[in-house]
Amino acid sequence: MQRRVLLLLAIFVVGAAAIAAATFALLPGAQQRVATTVAIGGPFQLVDQDGRKVTQGDYAGAPFLVFFGFTHCPDVCPTALFDMSQAFEALGPDARKVAGLFITVDPERDTPEVMKNYLGSFHPSIRGLTGSPEEVAAAIKTYRAYAKKVPTQGSDYTMDHTAVVYLMGKDGVFVAPLNLKRPPAEVAADLRKYL
Ligand code: NI
Repeated sequence: MQRRVLLLLAIFVVGAAAIAAATFALLPGAQQRVATTVAIGGPFQLVDQDGRKVTQGDYAGAPFLVFFGFTHCPDVCPTALFDMSQAFEALGPDARKVAGLFITVDPERDTPEVMKNYLGSFHPSIRGLTGSPEEVAAAIKTYRAYAKKVPTQGSDYTMDHTAVVYLMGKDGVFVAPLNLKRPPAEVAADLRKYL
């Protein structure tokens, strides 16, 4: 019994050493690949809640947040948008310099009018973006996000989706996921660093 354990341990150690060696051998190339393929964010073409065509360029020059969701979402989306509103509130007048982009994953139901009505309960710096199913799918892909329609009772459906809040710098480059589960003043102080 003990011999067998030792043998397994030996196999594990040799295996781990081989993996470590392979990792080091691949490191320069692997690093390059990470830099070129794991870009998050980029150009998009959507429509805001006022029916205006918007692109990433419209938000350049200031940091912006990107959050994917949908207006029929029972809890995750309203909670995130509420937390974001609180953080923008804590920013005071500086909130005018930032944008929170709420990109729908449900363009079928989330027309600009529906988005506008829904966002009336949140901070005005939060913009609701929608578009054709193809435009929305392209934006989801650009942010490496995930969204999937899930049928519910009858002909109804809900959406599974990524709940990350992306913090994008003023150059439009992804900085980090933003944690909204903190006191609003703390989030605001974080955002202020990127103004
Ligand atoms: Ni949601």
